[in-house]
Amino acid sequence: MEIIVLKEIDSTNNYAKKLIDKNKNNFVVLANKQTNGRGRLDRKWISNEGGLYFSLVKDFSDIYPILTPLAIVKTLKLFNIDAKIKFPNDITINNKKLSGILIESYKDRVIIGIGINFYNKVELDTAISIYDLNTFVDRLEFLFKFLEIFNKYLKKDKNQILDEYKKYSSTLNQKVKLILPNKVVEGFVRDIDFDGITLKIGDREVKYPTGEVVHLRI
Ligand code: BTN
Repeated sequence: MEIIVLKEIDSTNNYAKKLIDKNKNNFVVLANKQTNGRGRLDRKWISNEGGLYFSLVKDFSDIYPILTPLAIVKTLKLFNIDAKIKFPNDITINNKKLSGILIESYKDRVIIGIGINFYNKVELDTAISIYDLNTFVDRLEFLFKFLEIFNKYLKKDKNQILDEYKKYSSTLNQKVKLILPNKVVEGFVRDIDFDGITLKIGDREVKYPTGEVVHLRI
């Protein structure tokens, strides 16, 4: 897979869109830093030097929100780092965010944007970096291993991928608050799959396409 390496860019997801406009497919855009890194829900993703910022472009499929966090967790495992997946696709260690994923569909393609805190300074106390773990992982080595694992999983059965995702989910079977665009609901997480999260609210089970999850302690 072709990897395009940039010193600095506004956002690797934005750059990926420009290349899709030129009809490119199946590539990775990697940047040393981003001046306008974007997160989910219109948030900013602070992207100073030292972190790993890249976007992957593929044909459209609904597998990526499940497959991508799983492939990140599996890659971290190779480097002896244990991480969890917080719904929908944040990667956390000790409940702090190590990595975020922004998946956007564009034309008939999907852009999978991944940001991982490596040696960049993380300013939020809800975030964590590889540096904080007192271990060293080479960013490029991580990227190559990630792509290997990602492509290996792409060939697997969808339900097997989902089952593995669930093993690393810190959200499944938890009491959560789910923040939706127009309301907040509270319930017990019964299931997660390719099209959303199922909550038990009172004696009803309700499925929501996505949302922001806050884990509650019981
Ligand atoms: C989130 O947790 O809100 C998602 C963060 C995604 C950040 C990555 S960094 C590479 C790619 N380019 C962007 O502008 N955003 C994604």
